Amino acid sequence: GKKFSHMLPGQHVYHGILFFGFSPPDTLEAVREFGVRGEDVFIVTYPKAGTTWMQEIVWLLLNDADFAGAAASPVYMRSPFLEFKDDVLKEVGLDIAEAMPSPRVIKTHLPLKLMPKQLFEKKPKVIVLFRNPKDVCCSYYNFYRSSSSFGDFQGEWPQFLDMFMEGHVDHGSWFDFTKSWWPLNGSDNFRFVFYEDLKMNLLEEVKKLALFLGKTDLSPEMLTKISDHCSFESMKTNPMTNHEDVYSIDSSVSPLLRKGTVGDWKNHFTVQQNEDFDREYKEKMSECSSPIPFKY
Ligand code: A3P
Repeated sequence: GKKFSHMLPGQHVYHGILFFGFSPPDTLEAVREFGVRGEDVFIVTYPKAGTTWMQEIVWLLLNDADFAGAAASPVYMRSPFLEFKDDVLKEVGLDIAEAMPSPRVIKTHLPLKLMPKQLFEKKPKVIVLFRNPKDVCCSYYNFYRSSSSFGDFQGEWPQFLDMFMEGHVDHGSWFDFTKSWWPLNGSDNFRFVFYEDLKMNLLEEVKKLALFLGKTDLSPEMLTKISDHCSFESMKTNPMTNHEDVYSIDSSVSPLLRKGTVGDWKNHFTVQQNEDFDREYKEKMSECSSPIPFKY
């Protein structure tokens, strides 16, 4: 049926969730057995929620504003992507993470059920970053167009929107991902952050994250420096954060740091698509423990 009409080369389905070749089944299995440490910080996002942004912020906070260190290697090497395996880049998230001294900043896009089994036993800190799903969908569409990792997607926006709504995109359904994590809001060691709040007042959010991470020794000047370093403009021109060196991303089609705004969905959705989205959102999120205060 419709479900398979959008299958692209290199996809596989693992525990009901669609993945591409850079998250192969054996890696996803090994992730379940991954040795978590109490000092770890997990950054949990659905793709395109602002993962890279949060990785850079948290890495700098945990490493006492070590700007020299941040300039010495790309953010994706300093903060490993747990379920990522790329033979060309020789980047294997699990291997990088295992070899890394604490504190580790670990990125993942997995829904709760696929997380390392030790997550609740070792009690690492977990930052869950959410972004309104309309902007996520637009950002993801543009990323699909620019990245060769997604079976050389050549489709148009309406087709991608269908795929997104069906969960037929890499890492599966935004709705299922979001519903899996949201009930943990308010739990010890968990902090939920919204992309739109980072946009609204980055310094304030950086301060709150510093408190959550126990980095009370960082001076106000340092926190301001971190916030400035993590502005969109600064990260876009910084080769250690902008991913322009990554072979699989064609930045001339669409760079990873594309627009970095709230509300770009208004440039993509038709009135009808928006109405359909709102109706389907309501249906799909009806069993949510409580409404999620997204800003559009
Ligand atoms: P857009 O495509 O809307 O521009 P991820 O890191 O999860 O792949 O998310 C990428 C999205 O986060 C992109 O959104 C990118 O521009 C945005 N982003 C990355 N760094 C940012 C920053 N410093 N400020 C604002 N947005 C940022």
